[in-house]
Amino acid sequence: MKRTKVIDALQRTDYGTDITVMGWVRSKRGSKGIFFIALNDGSTIKNVQVVGDEANFDAELLKQITTGACLRIDGTLVESPAAGQASEVQAKSIQVFGPCGSDYPMQKKGQTFEYMRQHAHMRLRTNTFGAVMRIRHNMAMAIHTYFHQHGYFYFHTPLITASDAEGAGQMFQVTTKNLYDLKKNEEGHIIYDDDFFGKMTSLTVSGQLEGELGATALGAIYTFGPTFRAENSNTPRHLAEFWMIEPEVAFIDLDDLMDLEEDFIKFCVRWALDNCKDDLEFLNKMVDKGLIERLEGVLKQDFVRLSYTEGIQILQDALKSGKKQFEFPCNWGDDLASEHERYLVEEHFQKPVIMTHYPKAIKAFYMKIDEENPVFDGKEMAQTVQGTDVLFPQIGEIIGGSVREESYDKLLGEIQERNIPIKDMWWYLDTRRFGSCPHGGFGLGFERLILFVTGMQNIRDVIPFPRTPRNAEF
Ligand code: 4AD
Ligand code: MG
Repeated sequence: MKRTKVIDALQRTDYGTDITVMGWVRSKRGSKGIFFIALNDGSTIKNVQVVGDEANFDAELLKQITTGACLRIDGTLVESPAAGQASEVQAKSIQVFGPCGSDYPMQKKGQTFEYMRQHAHMRLRTNTFGAVMRIRHNMAMAIHTYFHQHGYFYFHTPLITASDAEGAGQMFQVTTKNLYDLKKNEEGHIIYDDDFFGKMTSLTVSGQLEGELGATALGAIYTFGPTFRAENSNTPRHLAEFWMIEPEVAFIDLDDLMDLEEDFIKFCVRWALDNCKDDLEFLNKMVDKGLIERLEGVLKQDFVRLSYTEGIQILQDALKSGKKQFEFPCNWGDDLASEHERYLVEEHFQKPVIMTHYPKAIKAFYMKIDEENPVFDGKEMAQTVQGTDVLFPQIGEIIGGSVREESYDKLLGEIQERNIPIKDMWWYLDTRRFGSCPHGGFGLGFERLILFVTGMQNIRDVIPFPRTPRNAEF
């Protein structure tokens, strides 16, 4: 089927030539015996206008041209008298590939996002979701381009794993066992010897630990794949299945890591502004009037680099002066909530923040202990780690990363202190036994980046098929 994509048809100026376009009807109207169809094929947010004389077409066929119907139009490319478009198609013949009844769920304009989530299989055909999905694709291209240009190797880490990288116990188990007839040992523990892998396995929460094996061989790698977390958080920022980008690099320190985080994320935002102009303009008009200004703002500013301890001080000062109320506590040692992160970024600094030197107790076992920066926590000197979270306006945490503990003894100590089973970690510890090196990396939540770049408010609306607690439809 030879056809011209709508994105190309709108560029063409060879008026008078034959053209074939195919797509779905966004709207149809008529005036004085002339019909006008706005046709969209997903290649761009823009529609091509198809014009025809009703008298030249079968009345039954014209009746089938309703919102959502799929058409093939053969006609002539002509210069458009209408404002806002250079060309349009004068229809000579129309074929209805698929008519669309009045029960089409995306019929009406201006449906709520909640309504569209319930019809997520059809919402992709709307302008907003088309724009979001095209931007999502472009951001994936930006990420691969950035790392390829900077000498990182795309490295594939397993989705099925026996280790809990983040140690948070939020894993989905993978088994072929008959759940109706589980064999247990005398202590009541399930016996996995006869399971597919002969041991307990789960879906990965992060490719980092295997990524470190890659980085300590290839120098610099990145992963880009799905990750799974069974955290029961029903928030607009959490998914049970999300995509994560995890670069891991040998021979970098904390400052290098922060430079990488900032450079990388600015590259992605610039890419969106350069490559997704039409879609961003649409979202800026329809979803979030401050979007493009916010994206440009991020490029102009240096990110603030701030220790956790300084951050807590700012939050407590805001509380004491009565400037701000928070729902959750923010004493030294507490994990920051999204409201704290957003206060720092949106109100106090009004720019992105890279926060460092977190208390050891609230971060993962692999983060490098910062011997130089212990902090008095009210009772004793508490250790901090070289972790870095990048905090963004509208989002809160968009990146989590760290310099890794490279000392075998210290790492083993952390593993033991947290009761992480050594039998799952021997291979990871081997990186520190054989030619250990200073290294670090981070994880960017892909959907959180897409939230920021599109101005959408709910993470369920930036992935085609969201997985959240009690929701695995489609
Ligand atoms: O901060 P996290 O848990 O860090 C890690 O997994 C490290 N292993 C990364 C690394 O150093 N290689 O997760 C990283 C990012 C978060 O900053 C957030 O953007 C995103 O992943 N994220 C989620 N996104 C959507 N839904 C969830 N449930 C998420 N949990 C984390
Ligand atoms: Mg984190």
